[in-house]
Amino acid sequence: MLTSRRRLLSGVLLGSTAALLPIGARAASVRVETLLSQMTLPEKAGQLSCFNDEIRPVGAVFNPVIDPRGGDAMLADIRAGRIGMLFNGYGVAGARRAQEAALTSRLRIPLAFAADVLHGCRTIFPIPLAEAAAFDPDLSRRAARAVAVETTAGGIHWTFAPMVDVARDQRWGRVAEGAGEDVLLNQLLAAARVEGFQGPDLTRADALLATPKHFVGYGAVRGGMEYAAVDMSGAELRETFLPPFTAAFAAGAGATMASFTDFGGVPVSANRPLLTDMLRGELRFDGVCVSDYDADRELIAHGVAADEADAARLAILAGIDMSMQSGLFVRHLPALVAEGRVPLGAVDQAVRRVLTLKERLGLFDDPFRSIDRRAERRETGSVAIKQVAREVATRSIVLLRNDGGLLPLPRAGKRIALIGPFGADRANLNGPWSFAGDAGDGIDIATGLRAILDDPALLVVEAGSAIGESLPGGIERALVAARGADIVLLAIGEGADMSGEGNSRTDIIVPAAQQALAEAVAAVGKPIVVLLRHGRALALTGAVRDAPALLATWFLGEQTGPAIADILFGKVEPTGRLPVSFPIASGQQPWSYDRRSTGRPAPDSDPMTPGRSHWRDAPDQALYPFGSGMGYTRFALSALRLPGTVAAGAAVPISVLVRNIGTRTGSALIRLDVHDRVASRTRPIRQMKAFARVTLAAGAEARVALTIVGDALALIASDGTRQIEPGRFDCWISAGDETEIGGSFEVR
Ligand code: NOJ
Repeated sequence: MLTSRRRLLSGVLLGSTAALLPIGARAASVRVETLLSQMTLPEKAGQLSCFNDEIRPVGAVFNPVIDPRGGDAMLADIRAGRIGMLFNGYGVAGARRAQEAALTSRLRIPLAFAADVLHGCRTIFPIPLAEAAAFDPDLSRRAARAVAVETTAGGIHWTFAPMVDVARDQRWGRVAEGAGEDVLLNQLLAAARVEGFQGPDLTRADALLATPKHFVGYGAVRGGMEYAAVDMSGAELRETFLPPFTAAFAAGAGATMASFTDFGGVPVSANRPLLTDMLRGELRFDGVCVSDYDADRELIAHGVAADEADAARLAILAGIDMSMQSGLFVRHLPALVAEGRVPLGAVDQAVRRVLTLKERLGLFDDPFRSIDRRAERRETGSVAIKQVAREVATRSIVLLRNDGGLLPLPRAGKRIALIGPFGADRANLNGPWSFAGDAGDGIDIATGLRAILDDPALLVVEAGSAIGESLPGGIERALVAARGADIVLLAIGEGADMSGEGNSRTDIIVPAAQQALAEAVAAVGKPIVVLLRHGRALALTGAVRDAPALLATWFLGEQTGPAIADILFGKVEPTGRLPVSFPIASGQQPWSYDRRSTGRPAPDSDPMTPGRSHWRDAPDQALYPFGSGMGYTRFALSALRLPGTVAAGAAVPISVLVRNIGTRTGSALIRLDVHDRVASRTRPIRQMKAFARVTLAAGAEARVALTIVGDALALIASDGTRQIEPGRFDCWISAGDETEIGGSFEVR
């Protein structure tokens, strides 16, 4: 973990060779330049246009249906050179038909095939937010690699992932797609996922081009409302929202997608300062910038474009290389160039990037790469990918509460009532963007439990409630089950369609019908283990909040049942930690553990001190802040070692002695947070700068070393420049909820 962090940060600091070239000036190959010189304007506009694949539709509908034309018309447009890329189609047979059509076009330019593969193609993994809970870039890299192998075997070259939007407002539905609220975790996982998807060589049949998205700031939509406007300071943009993109680009991502939101009054799809000055100039990104779905046409609804031609003009001039679904580029660019409203050079530069991307993927040498029936049969749903999916699912679960050591449960001798709409349900295992996954393939909780119990007949399953409404007689049946049990497992939370795109919520609570079920069941008085299902952090109340044991289980995908069973019965130690803070109440949003101090902070000892920062009905605290989570053992920290003084920019080596003081082998996530005491701009009250994992047998101890990379102490100073300001930094090392040890060091 530390090695990959060092590699990432040195990449960020040193830049790549591309960083030495002027804006967008990756020297195109002779092949690309020759092709470009032969292309007509309509053919160029065609290369810059991509459409939802109607030749091999995937089944699920992910975007609003806009201008459908049918598979045959699509094949005709491909032959006419009017399409450069198809997305969200699946399967080798259809890919072959489409590619054969492209090879009959005048210049025989192959198509690229993309898809929204966010957490698995056919075999569905935990949602990215859940996977982030493993705090393990290496695991994310391996997961992305496994997903890339299966995805490319289905005739896809390119994924619109990873989603790297930092998300500090849990009302926003798309929190589910990313790595949560922390900058460092987002950076590390962005790089790991890009490396995993793309693999060592982009021309290989199993390499999946990555698209860190959405550039940039989408996670900060106002009020957490989907598609709303974004406004932020330049410092916030550079300190919080840009770093994951920088990391993903340093890892070699070949594409990015522009956010559809308004940013400071200029929608990103028309925002040249962001898409050209920043993306190409400051970040030196030389890959393809694809628009979001219909986003160029949406410039009309935003009120900055008069009509479709105007929208196309604004988008290409801002820096969009490829227009998605609207057809605006293919319809309007030729006339816009002819009328002198768009310089030919802008179109040529975008075409150069798109053709170069296809060349990097090896498509000119082998247009049928990743179109292989044998690979499709071999890799789809393979034993190997299911193993990785199960490992990730188990590592994603976070144990938030375990009063009296209720967990792990014994495998024999206890009557268990599994109550709640998700106990035996398969339709809600996968969560949002489960691309070609079939919910029926997944293993539900009840099935997972029966497979591990010595006597499966001791398990009783009762829904008790539907997701959003009560079931006639549901609570009564649940109460009978609870009374007859020794332990109640309560499988409640959000349905699969309650998070993800278009699913922002104002009140991030367990739906009322399920809360009523929980209250009724709790009144029976049996020990309750809550198995929470969710695509975001939730505001828990009443019997759910107060249950003696609580597991955050997200949407874990196909391997849900086995993963939950492994953790519940202690076959596997819970090791997940929260990548997002669980608030006390919805009204606290947006909120993050690394917020800045106010001028009147409330003391930790009395967070409701009158006249100090808090709400009338809630402190400025989370119920379970970022990083919360425990295992079945406990750790003690001692003997902190840190330098008294370091030079600005130098690495800060810190170490601590970690001892397993429990009775089981366990894995501790050792985390290092820092606070800059006095700076020219206010700083986060604390912010994670490094973490490492150590596994120790009961009674064993080890010294764990963590290094703060010099640049990690930098800030965007009040004059807008990136600087490390001298002074004293507080630091804290923690190993789970209650165990923390602190010190400070001086930067000269
Ligand atoms: C809209 C979403 O914002 C984006 O993330 C996705 O990649 C596109 N639709 C394509 O499906």
